[in-house]
Amino acid sequence: MPGRSAVFTCRLLAVSVVAVLHSAAGADEATIVKPREGTWIQSEEVQVIAKAAGAQLHLDGKPVEADEPFPGVFHARVPISSGQHLLRLESADGIHEVRFRAGGDPVGDGVEPFVDHPPIRIECAHCHSVSRRGRFRFSGGCQTCHAKEQFIQTHSHELHELASCGMCHDAHGSSVAKLLVLPRDQACKQCHN
Ligand code: HEC
Ligand code: HEC
Ligand code: HEC
Ligand code: HEC
Repeated sequence: MPGRSAVFTCRLLAVSVVAVLHSAAGADEATIVKPREGTWIQSEEVQVIAKAAGAQLHLDGKPVEADEPFPGVFHARVPISSGQHLLRLESADGIHEVRFRAGGDPVGDGVEPFVDHPPIRIECAHCHSVSRRGRFRFSGGCQTCHAKEQFIQTHSHELHELASCGMCHDAHGSSVAKLLVLPRDQACKQCHN
């Protein structure tokens, strides 16, 4: 949307305003999916996942060479040194920034190290596809490794009833036990009061 870029350039100083406006735009919002803000990464490379039309990614000011496995979806693995880092995503939607830390030493303040999921490398296409309307989406695939039978015991629901795993889990990895994005008591309350 070239016509919009000028409008958004005026808003660059108010990044938070842009972020609020765009959360209303739903699934088409430009976003850095990985790494998450404030993460502590112990390994010597960082996995970058971002979504935006025509995006430019910079890590500590240097351009990131990323694959584009789906239109508007970017992926890269970049070697990183110990210390503080800044990942910046620039697109017609505005600027998004994520700060994270790398290195073997504990951060303190109760920050837990980031743990990748799954522990083995899986193709993005195992869990994602593009809909007929051209929309990038999560299309399932968890049950290849996580059995249905066990699922109902932990979740009190059939797997298909809670098919939007992303409501409660960060499927790309997390610093929280069970990869939860919400504390356990809040996770089920999204539907149960
Ligand atoms: C094990 C399954 C799995 C794999 C493998 C996986 N993802 Fe995801 N991904 C998910 C889930 C689950 C979500 C959350 C979807 C939701 O809540 O709608 C998600 C969300 C996303 C989003 C955000 C979608 C949006 O509309 O905001 C992007 C972008 C993304 N994944 C890119 C990737 C890329 C690139 C790869 C490969 C490097 C990848 N994913 C690998 C499961 C996976
Ligand atoms: C290719 C196999 C594979 C796929 C596909 C897969 N996982 Fe996993 N997952 C694993 C393995 C292996 C582990 C670590 C061992 C374990 O805890 O079962 C794991 C761990 C987890 C954990 C943490 C379990 C714990 O006890 O800490 C969660 C939550 C999880 N996966 C959710 C998902 C979700 C949601 C999807 C789909 C978006 C998914 N997995 C797809 C292999 C897979
Ligand atoms: C409504 C929230 C919610 C949704 C949606 C959800 N989960 Fe969970 N899941 C949880 C909670 C809460 C736990 C932790 C239970 C515990 O601590 O024992 C959990 C634990 C897990 C675990 C680890 C325990 C186990 O059973 O091995 C896996 C794997 C898992 N979920 C996979 C999935 C997959 C795959 C999906 C999507 C098909 C999914 N979850 C959808 C809330 C959810
Ligand atoms: C996407 C919405 C949604 C989420 C999230 C959800 N549930 Fe449910 N749950 C339902 C619906 C709908 C019913 C059926 C209610 C009915 O039949 O009256 C139900 C029924 C149940 C029941 C049976 C209740 C009864 O009275 O028979 C249990 C137990 C339950 N859910 C537990 C959970 C747990 C535990 C979680 C978190 C892992 C969870 N639910 C997350 C929608 C959800």
